[in-house]
Amino acid sequence: MDKIWIKGGKKLNGTVKVSGSKNAALPILFSSLLTDKKSTFSNVPDLQDIRFTMKILETLDVHTESYENNKLILKGATNGSKEATYDLVRKMRASVLALGPLVARYGYGKVSLPGGCAIGARPINFHLMGLQKLGAEIDLQDGYVIASCKKLKGTRIVFDFPSVGATENLMMAAVLAQGETVLENVAREPEIVDLAKSLRSMGAKIEGEGHETILIQGVNSLCGASHSVMGDRIEAGTYLIAGLITGGKVTTEGLEREQLDAVLEKLKEMGAQVESSEDRLTVSAKLPLRSIDFQTQPFPGFPTDMQAQLMALLCTTEGSSTVTETIFENRFMHVPELQRMGADISTRGNIAVVKGVDMLKGAQVMATDLRASACLILAALRAEGETTVHRVYHLDRGYEKLEEKFKKIGADIYRIE
Ligand code: UD1
Repeated sequence: MDKIWIKGGKKLNGTVKVSGSKNAALPILFSSLLTDKKSTFSNVPDLQDIRFTMKILETLDVHTESYENNKLILKGATNGSKEATYDLVRKMRASVLALGPLVARYGYGKVSLPGGCAIGARPINFHLMGLQKLGAEIDLQDGYVIASCKKLKGTRIVFDFPSVGATENLMMAAVLAQGETVLENVAREPEIVDLAKSLRSMGAKIEGEGHETILIQGVNSLCGASHSVMGDRIEAGTYLIAGLITGGKVTTEGLEREQLDAVLEKLKEMGAQVESSEDRLTVSAKLPLRSIDFQTQPFPGFPTDMQAQLMALLCTTEGSSTVTETIFENRFMHVPELQRMGADISTRGNIAVVKGVDMLKGAQVMATDLRASACLILAALRAEGETTVHRVYHLDRGYEKLEEKFKKIGADIYRIE
């Protein structure tokens, strides 16, 4: 298994071009199941999760015609298998996003239940409740969920919680349902807006994305999509914090300020300067930064996917900070690893208290999930001495050309294969 070796202490300066967003690309690629026509997507990041999605789509008769320079051309399914098997689904939870499009298009979809994962139980009850309301019959059999119906019918669905994945799955189901669907208390994340744009390029009738209520008028069929995936706000945030934690100045290119506003506001509260123009963001500061308190929230609140990275930065500030994780119940797996690097953190339930220390120290550490891995890389960039991060396959799921991008802004970083 690959490892990443880092020698800390170098100031990172320069510009990073942000890749396409993994979390936007995944549902968008699954939406190609909704048509038998060819779809063309650009700015698709070349990541493990994207490769898994392409494999799952292959088994569902959506074949990759080409994938070069982040441009992916998919041939629509005519009438292939409607079953996503355990072997593929267990590698990526987002595979459940095949269910909505399959049942909407064919009246039948069978997807292995994704099971638990490192950051919490992550059930799919909101996805299933919504599909049931649209008229699908749901059966659970041998670890699989089967959704079937003659034709989905538009209806009103009120979410108990604005789940990102459930909003995406139900949007994809409703675009081919008969009549009007109203989705209320939905997720407002920028990735939802991007999915709506891509679905509209296929002829879907959607309004209200980015707000609490989405209105969808079902259509009989959809044409192929033509869409450029939005920039990855979590990747951008990670590089901006890399600049700050090393006392340098990083600019990201390819993301607008409002998509990362909650993070930038917290960095400002810590004493950082934020400059922005069009799709460029620059963050810099004089160290030491101030401690702060924050809690994760659905968009437009602070994203849970940036919690671990900001915690790494808080380990190096003056004073004591409180981090409250409200989205996932087990998302402090990076804490013991940061402690091994000398961080002073105590946790109780979903609250972590982080006391800034004079210096983090290099160590052998273990990545446990995607964003936890990014947090360890950030800590290592600041730490005295050498750090080896094990199990970097987590990073390969979500950060395109990670070492290349970090080297370009001055990091001493290598992959050990
Ligand atoms: C997506 C993102 C993930 C991000 C998360 C929250 C992708 C591929 N992943 O995950 O990176 O951290 O949004 O911003 O886009 N829940 C239920 N029942 C459900 C669905 C969700 O109880 O049916 C709970 C989850 O367990 C979790 C919370 O709702 O506690 C949020 O989950 P959700 O917004 O659905 O996250 P994902 O779509 O899985």
